[in-house]
Amino acid sequence: MAMTSRVSIFPSNLHLLLLVTVSWLFSFVNASNSTTIYDELKAKGLPVGLLPKGITRYEINDSSGEFEVWMEEPCNAKFENEVHYDPNIKGTLGYGRIGELSGMSAQELFLWFPVKGIRVDLPSSGLIHFDVGVADKQFSLSLFEDPPDCNPQVKNAGSDDILRAVW
Ligand SMILES: *[C@@H]1O[C@H](CO)[C@@H](O)[C@H](O)[C@H]1NC(C)=O
Ligand SMILES: *[C@@H]1O[C@H](CO)[C@@H](O)[C@H](O)[C@H]1NC(C)=O
Repeated sequence: MAMTSRVSIFPSNLHLLLLVTVSWLFSFVNASNSTTIYDELKAKGLPVGLLPKGITRYEINDSSGEFEVWMEEPCNAKFENEVHYDPNIKGTLGYGRIGELSGMSAQELFLWFPVKGIRVDLPSSGLIHFDVGVADKQFSLSLFEDPPDCNPQVKNAGSDDILRAVW
């Protein structure tokens, strides 16, 4: 009898140990309480879909709003227009707006235009404005509800030359 119970106690202790370890790991993950760049956008009244899935790291200066995000590789997402994201995107986050943006460009008539700023109307008009230098492009906010899938892609070679000619 005693022999049997000793044998059965060992595996159940092991089980318990595993449970304790797993829950400890989970509590560690929760305690880190990591906010994401999407949370930061939401907190500023901006749609989370402005930035694609696949962001591996971000930094933000809470006092100036300067932020930086990193991805594994450049990629393209399709909204109404194709949007290109560099693996490193920087900008300044303010309420309802992103200024001094770099690392993001939008395609228009086969040309790529750097998106220099983004803003939403306050109160909301349901529109979002992309400052592409030559013009203010308006899109429906509803296009940016969720972070889009982003397909690894390098911008077409030569597009920067065309862009320079346009400027
Ligand atoms: C988690 O983050 C939120 C938002 O920054 C903060 O308000 C809250 O106090 C944090 N919780 C813990 C346990 O750190
Ligand atoms: C954050 O921004 C403030 C105000 O512009 C600046 O004084 C400070 O040096 C910045 N902090 C970092 C870590 O860059």
